Amino acid sequence: MVNVYGAAARFYDALSGERVVYRAGRECGVALLGLRPGDTVLDLACGTGLNFALLVDAVGPAGAVIGLDRSREMLEMARRRVKSNGWTNVRLVEADAMTFDPMVVVKELPAARGSVDGVFSSYAMSVFTDWHPAWDRMRALLRPGGRACIVDMQSPVKIYRVFSPLARIAAAVGGADLKARPWTIIEREGVDVRSVAVRGGHIRVAAATIPPNPQPGLSLG
Ligand SMILES: C[S@@+](CC[C@H](N)C(=O)[O-])C[C@H]1O[C@@H](n2cnc3c(N)ncnc32)[C@H](O)[C@@H]1O
Repeated sequence: MVNVYGAAARFYDALSGERVVYRAGRECGVALLGLRPGDTVLDLACGTGLNFALLVDAVGPAGAVIGLDRSREMLEMARRRVKSNGWTNVRLVEADAMTFDPMVVVKELPAARGSVDGVFSSYAMSVFTDWHPAWDRMRALLRPGGRACIVDMQSPVKIYRVFSPLARIAAAVGGADLKARPWTIIEREGVDVRSVAVRGGHIRVAAATIPPNPQPGLSLG
């Protein structure tokens, strides 16, 4: 399979339908995540960093944003974004979301922080061959009482089904599975769940406080 997030990384922002369709999901997601100044947040599979401005704004200069992605090329674009905006509290980690050791993220946190206050992922978990191990890692990194938000896509619903062919093209280009529905894990496992659909149901956003895992499969060191 062609690695669309390698060679095409330079064109991702221009081709991603950001303004017309997908920005609405990230804005809604970051708002529902409910970060506070001084918080730390993981942006899983951050790509070129299209969420960073919103996340940096939410956590403020005393907080920190950790962007993780497995594509060196996407991270290079993210690095340029960080540099051009002068963000000194954004760290980037090259790793596979399905297999990374959560300690690689902990190492990037400000001193004395062993977990993050929030975990966020947009338009990425539906691209993974299996998002469950990625969720386990997000959850392992989250402090007790921390919040998670997943933004992802599915086929449009109701009268908006007319746009389904366009959604299928967008998914095929990006390698996403429109049936993956990764936000459902937050709906099932979260407390105070906020789950909304935007852009004709094509974009789903779910956010919640995540209780500690009673049977942790992963631990932090
Ligand atoms: C559609 S892009 C979304 C990027 C970003 N989250 C956004 O909202 O624009 C999907 C991203 O997932 C990354 N990705 C795909 N599989 C991955 C994996 N197993 N581990 C980490 N990143 C992965 C790709 O490199 C790409 O940057």
